[in-house]
Amino acid sequence: MIPRMNLINRSVVTFFALFILSACSSDSGPDELPSNPVSGAQENPEPNNPGTTTDPSVDSMPDSMMPVDGGDNAPGGPVAALVLSPLPSPSITEDPSANDEPIPQASELNTITSFQVVRDPAPRIPFKTQAAEFSEEDFARGLPEAVVTVPPGLDTTSNAPPFFEGLENVRVSAGDIVEIRYIPRDPEGELPGMFAQELPEGATFDDNFDGTRTLLWQTFQADVGITAFTVVAIDPVDSLYRSSQTLLIAVDENPTSVEPNIAPTIEPVTSYTVRVGDPAVVLLDGFDRNGTTPTIELLNPPATATLTPDERDPDLQWLQVIPDEVGTVTIDVLTRDEIDPELTGLDQITFFVRPASDFERSGARLKDAAAGSGLLFGSAVSPVFYLQGDGGVYESVASTEFGIMTPESSMKWDAINPVPGEFTFADMDNLMQFAALHSMSVRGHPLVWHRSLPSWVEATAVNDREVHMREFITRVMNRYGEGIDYWDVINEPLNDSDGNMRQSIWYEAMGESYIDIAFAQAKELDPTATLVLNEFDIGFAGPKFDGLLQLIDRLQARSVPLDAIGFQMHVFSSYDQFDELGANMAAVVERGLDVHITELDVAIADGGNASQQAAVYAGVVNTCQAQPRCNVLQTWGFTDRYSFRTFLDPLYLNRSYQVKDSYGAMQEALGNN
Ligand code: XIL
Repeated sequence: MIPRMNLINRSVVTFFALFILSACSSDSGPDELPSNPVSGAQENPEPNNPGTTTDPSVDSMPDSMMPVDGGDNAPGGPVAALVLSPLPSPSITEDPSANDEPIPQASELNTITSFQVVRDPAPRIPFKTQAAEFSEEDFARGLPEAVVTVPPGLDTTSNAPPFFEGLENVRVSAGDIVEIRYIPRDPEGELPGMFAQELPEGATFDDNFDGTRTLLWQTFQADVGITAFTVVAIDPVDSLYRSSQTLLIAVDENPTSVEPNIAPTIEPVTSYTVRVGDPAVVLLDGFDRNGTTPTIELLNPPATATLTPDERDPDLQWLQVIPDEVGTVTIDVLTRDEIDPELTGLDQITFFVRPASDFERSGARLKDAAAGSGLLFGSAVSPVFYLQGDGGVYESVASTEFGIMTPESSMKWDAINPVPGEFTFADMDNLMQFAALHSMSVRGHPLVWHRSLPSWVEATAVNDREVHMREFITRVMNRYGEGIDYWDVINEPLNDSDGNMRQSIWYEAMGESYIDIAFAQAKELDPTATLVLNEFDIGFAGPKFDGLLQLIDRLQARSVPLDAIGFQMHVFSSYDQFDELGANMAAVVERGLDVHITELDVAIADGGNASQQAAVYAGVVNTCQAQPRCNVLQTWGFTDRYSFRTFLDPLYLNRSYQVKDSYGAMQEALGNN
């Protein structure tokens, strides 16, 4: 709860009124799902989209799409491969320039002694131009329409989605407390679940233990403006029925408000398990609820601890320490208020320092066990090794266990090109250096996806999207193509579960032919790489996999240069459809394609346990090993600490990098075949 303060002015805002549900369809809601999954189904890391009721059509082919020798009616076999029209010159958004070139990090802060970490130069174009801002006009229009999503192919007569009872936009003066009670309702009378997306700074969303929750937010001058807060109601019967409700909170200037001056703090306040002798780095960000910037200093630090201002943003400070003995090292970090230096905050960063032997793993390294049967084994990798306090251990695992790596998020559009004309290549450059240093192959991921797009891309005009897509593909492949053997050209083109085409912004602009165009562009730029279509929830029989096969057949009839299908395999410990996985792989191979397991993780389902999880890891490995053309197997990370499903402990090293049953099970399965 927000501590009650001696408030100047308290405007408690609580509403009860009927809220009119309006159905509109688009991506909605974040990823959390109730934890009682359907057996075998994966946690749906993608918000579910309403299904299409029409079959995918390729009739709307843009000019660049028309095949050379006529359309589908060409006599004889499949049409010739697509010939793309040249991209416009100059490009429709500014190309990378020397201004975007990452620069060597001046102070050797990272844990990797063998290469120079590079950092992006200070942004030339303010990133905030990409944030979705809400205006007074938006506020005046009243509560935004709820975004209702239902399982593809179903409608809302069989099961009406939930809604929130009585909400309205809220207007307060800086210094007021906002208090809004969220009452989810379900027409069938059951009690829906709910979760909040990003909370306003300093706000809490408290459980009233009666099915409702209350947003409590002490506002400050720093919050003047319009803040959007979104809560998602989840149907109690079918969690794919959701209602995502955004509410706007306008905070007005209040010159008379004499706000309490809140003590500053640092972000993150956390702890790490580290290996003795590894340089540990933590980027400290001073935070002050009043919107000011505190200074940061260490109190009685260990001899090896230093603070170094970040080259791009001197308000950020790099804490570095080299724990040189086993035990617990706690570093006191003092933050001093910008207005009143006597007002301070004291936080701790804790390092649990363990001997190197604690991180040694017996038996063969996973990549070596896999190589025995010609399987390339690897994982997704993030820039943890130079951005987090446990980067040393992270590097020691990633550099020894994997023969291939996928950049978990560093090659995504919002990471590479957050605003038009601004390119931030450093993290991906560092990952490429890391892979080269450790002789790892690289999977470029993803070139075309409907998520992780900067808001400026989502806002592009439909008619420009083909060129935008091709320009992004061109820029990324030209920069990284030399070091990349596999490209996830298209990621998740199908709806979550029904096998129809996902109504993404790419599909809206080009129909299904966006796939043809993307593969043609990738083939033109890297004729020797393996080009992959990557999808989730295709590791068991069902309409989605059927839809995938139909899509493959259509693409092959159009001579799309597709080489392999990526089975993501984000599953649960209750997964047991290994036969169906094998059959699905065989069906793909029958079409002359390779099969890759690209993102394997195994979340612990309700009632599940580590040994069940291990059996699933082994089962997927065995199924892949039984298919000669399953030649790459990658997991989506390796330590639960940095998994995107972290609360479900889905990986094979725990948060302290200690092996779990799954590690040994995979090691044995990989080595047995
Ligand atoms: C996920 C990352 O793991 C998250 O850190 C990020 O916030 C969102 O994307 N399928 C994919 C991956 O193809 O790119 C997604 O990765 C997980 C689902």
